[in-house]
Amino acid sequence: MRTYLVTGGAGFIGSNYIHYMFRKYGDQIHIINVDALTYAGNPENLKEVEGRGNYTFVKADICDKEAISRIFADYEIDRVVHFAAESHVDRSIKDPEVFIRTNVLGTAVMLNCAREAWENEDGTYKEGKRFLHVSTDEVYGSLEEEGGYFYETTPYAPHSPYSASKASSDLLVKAYMDTYHFPANITNCSNNYGPYQFPEKLIPLIINNALKGKKLPVYGDGKNVRDWLYVEDHAKAIDLVQEKGRLFETYNVGGHNEKQNIEIIHIIIETLQEMLPPGDPRRAHVTKELITYVEDRKGHDRRYAIAPDKIRDEIGWEPETMFREGIRQTIRWYFDHEDWMEHVTSGAYQKYYDDMYGKK
Ligand code: NAD
Ligand code: TYD
Repeated sequence: MRTYLVTGGAGFIGSNYIHYMFRKYGDQIHIINVDALTYAGNPENLKEVEGRGNYTFVKADICDKEAISRIFADYEIDRVVHFAAESHVDRSIKDPEVFIRTNVLGTAVMLNCAREAWENEDGTYKEGKRFLHVSTDEVYGSLEEEGGYFYETTPYAPHSPYSASKASSDLLVKAYMDTYHFPANITNCSNNYGPYQFPEKLIPLIINNALKGKKLPVYGDGKNVRDWLYVEDHAKAIDLVQEKGRLFETYNVGGHNEKQNIEIIHIIIETLQEMLPPGDPRRAHVTKELITYVEDRKGHDRRYAIAPDKIRDEIGWEPETMFREGIRQTIRWYFDHEDWMEHVTSGAYQKYYDDMYGKK
């Protein structure tokens, strides 16, 4: 049985990836999820898999070398999928240090522990070991409005403390590949949306605020462009890169689904109006009147757009969920999980952890 060490599996993309992997591989794999359960880590995201014999949760900080090397000593890890990070640009502008600690130092600890466990005395590596570093397209900086795409060869030019810390972590992974021939891949993905996303990010924030009749804050002129990908498509890409990708390569992951922020907000409002049943009192306040232009984000990148040619041509990955369908599925999920949103916004999920695992 192949054993995966997933970091940050209680977060948005990590938990979707874990669900996807169990749906795909069932009992053929063992997943160990190491997560520090910061504000963004919610064990409730994984309650359906908690009872599985082939799922293990370890509460630990990836910067804690002792805790991470203990995991490698206790289990024969075959694959690492490294999601754990501080992930929100606005928070990085307010408080950059924790981003540098987790994203840079934490990645260094993960690389060191994997290398120590996997490297043979002659500098080769044990058969079949692979480390996948999950990164972002934000490392490439900002594109002009008129055109152009991010390719794997695009020079790094990060602007926010978040993207600078992710760029640093990518460069560390590249350095380990070049220096130690460390068996790794990097994926740089565009903006994700879907179930379990924390409502500090644009799409769940707009859904949640609109349903509550709260203002919908638009930064600047609302014309910044992001390239949105349904999170399950990202999970599939990560799995395929580990299965079929060439070691030491970087793959860009994105959906050719560029939209201005203001377009996204209009689509969400229209879709909510279509989906809310007649007689639902929320229909009255879900309107465009809620849109409120606010001060722009500092250093706000204008446009991101991925050219996914390499992953399509080499591995055969393509996004499967069209945006209109993905946004409906996402809204349906938030309709069906009002308690999740309530727990996340009230902080009750931290109580869930204490109840489930006891205070540690
Ligand atoms: P998230 O903020 O939802 O989840 C991060 C997870 O990491 C949480 O469970 C948190 O508890 C955990 N974590 C944070 N610090 C930790 C530490 N020191 N030790 C152990 N665990 C820690 O993030 P996400 O949106 O799921 O993103 C996951 C990864 O994907 C990140 O590396 C991010 O840079 C990358 N990424 C995200 C997007 C996106 O649109 N969200 C796009 C491309 C790449
Ligand atoms: P976000 O979801 O924070 O992702 P990222 O900054 O990593 O791309 O933001 C997506 C876009 O939406 C970004 O251009 C900033 C903008 N935005 C708003 O206009 N209002 C908001 O309340 C938020 C959270 C984001």
